Amino acid sequence: MEKEQVLIVDDDQGLLKLLTMRLSAMGFAVTACPDANSALEEARLRRFDLVITDLRLAEGDGLAVMEEVRALHPGLPVLILTAHGSIPSAVEAMRKGAVGYLTKPFEDQDLAVWIEKALAQPRMSREIQRLKQLVSELYGLDHVAARSPVMQSLLQQVARVADTDATICLTGETGTGKEVIARIIHCNSQRAQGPFVPVNCGAIPESLFESELFGHLKGAFTGAVSSHRGLFQSADGGTLFLDEIGEMPPAVQVKILRALQTREVLEVGATRPVKVDVRIVTATNKDLAQAVKAGTFREDLFYRIQVIPLTVPPLRARREDIPLLAQLFLRQSIERAGKIVRGFTPDALQKLMTYHWPGNVRELEHAVEKAVILSPRDMITADLLPGGSGATDGAIKPLTEAREEFERKYLKELLELSGGNISRASLMAGRYRADFYKLLRKHGLHPSEGKARPAAPAAGAALQQPVADEGMKSA
Ligand SMILES: Nc1ncnc2c1ncn2[C@@H]1O[C@H](COP(=O)(O)OP(=O)(O)OP(=O)(O)O)[C@@H](O)[C@H]1O
Ligand SMILES: [Mg+2]
Repeated sequence: MEKEQVLIVDDDQGLLKLLTMRLSAMGFAVTACPDANSALEEARLRRFDLVITDLRLAEGDGLAVMEEVRALHPGLPVLILTAHGSIPSAVEAMRKGAVGYLTKPFEDQDLAVWIEKALAQPRMSREIQRLKQLVSELYGLDHVAARSPVMQSLLQQVARVADTDATICLTGETGTGKEVIARIIHCNSQRAQGPFVPVNCGAIPESLFESELFGHLKGAFTGAVSSHRGLFQSADGGTLFLDEIGEMPPAVQVKILRALQTREVLEVGATRPVKVDVRIVTATNKDLAQAVKAGTFREDLFYRIQVIPLTVPPLRARREDIPLLAQLFLRQSIERAGKIVRGFTPDALQKLMTYHWPGNVRELEHAVEKAVILSPRDMITADLLPGGSGATDGAIKPLTEAREEFERKYLKELLELSGGNISRASLMAGRYRADFYKLLRKHGLHPSEGKARPAAPAAGAALQQPVADEGMKSA
């Protein structure tokens, strides 16, 4: 940490030297001035964390020094040194904003105590500032990879509703970033200083739900040896994030509904409800409307939480974000793994762009991390990443790519079946010879590719499927 800067003003050269030594020993960076003018000169040039000034200076006046430095740096704490007998002026200084005064001669210990007192408040403010910065770096809109139009539009919606107290329901497939969005909402609301309490509704056993969410009093049930604050109350003044709300058992749903309606919770074992001030954000990867129809999710709760529904799109619907996210995760993984990896080869990037990412952003994050760990070179190559060139990897590819792949495989098979006989192969495919040649050229195939295997005309019929034809015609 940087040293705190202290400006000392005193016309007593001996005391000035002594104070400089003492404060330096206490770990401060000290600037010592013998008069008001030089002190103000310093204050105009630099920021200080504390000013200690003698009240009566041979040249100038301590009170004026205080007022002028505070005009330059509002809120800067000033400690006054007074000679014995000038207490009334010291009191006057306090009235004008000094944090305290020390009567000369003073003990080192008193000096230390007053300095600590004077610096406590600014230190606290700086700490809060630092934490806020940290949070906004982690969850501020700037630090989320979301370049695609769909994400930009989602973030615009988020910006519009974050500052209201409206209940928000986030829907999206697993790993799309619902919790990230929930935190962004919290950090951009007036509750940002309050707590953000995530609750995974799918992870709490039904029997514990009520006491976990609403708390319980000592002796409320067997085993309740002490009282326990519920998550609702822990989120007081902040945001309660009910994740996987679709997993909430029906018996609990009705209690949550009541809490949401009344903004009160009844602790288990209590007779009177307690007011809570929480903003609710929920998330689910289930189709809640469907769950309502199926009777597993209460309709009234559904409407209560759906005040503002927001959808976080799957990664395959925003491929523009993939390079950005991949770079972000690459930087993070490099740091964790302590390895030097410069980036992705073009093939690798291409693979990232075309894979269908069923696990969405989380899967991408893990894939990059794994590739960094496994990579023997300083570039990540395609073979280290999920997805593949074969049609059997289960990945959904963009239509053009899938069609091309199918076409090539189909042509190769035809050549093999026809033993490289173009007349027969084109007949099987229902194409003119010239067209067929063109297709082979497009895929860099040669009729001789089929010569390795003997012709099997009997199987030809099986290949003349309408699906294949459709693919060929629209290509
Ligand atoms: N836009 C983004 N920018 C940077 N990181 C992201 C982004 N979206 C998601 N992530 C990261 O991806 C991972 C999954 O995100 P998150 O936990 O928010 O998803 P989720 O939708 O809540 O998943 P689940 O449905 O499994 O609970 C987290 O590590 C998160 O930091
Ligand atoms: Mg989640």
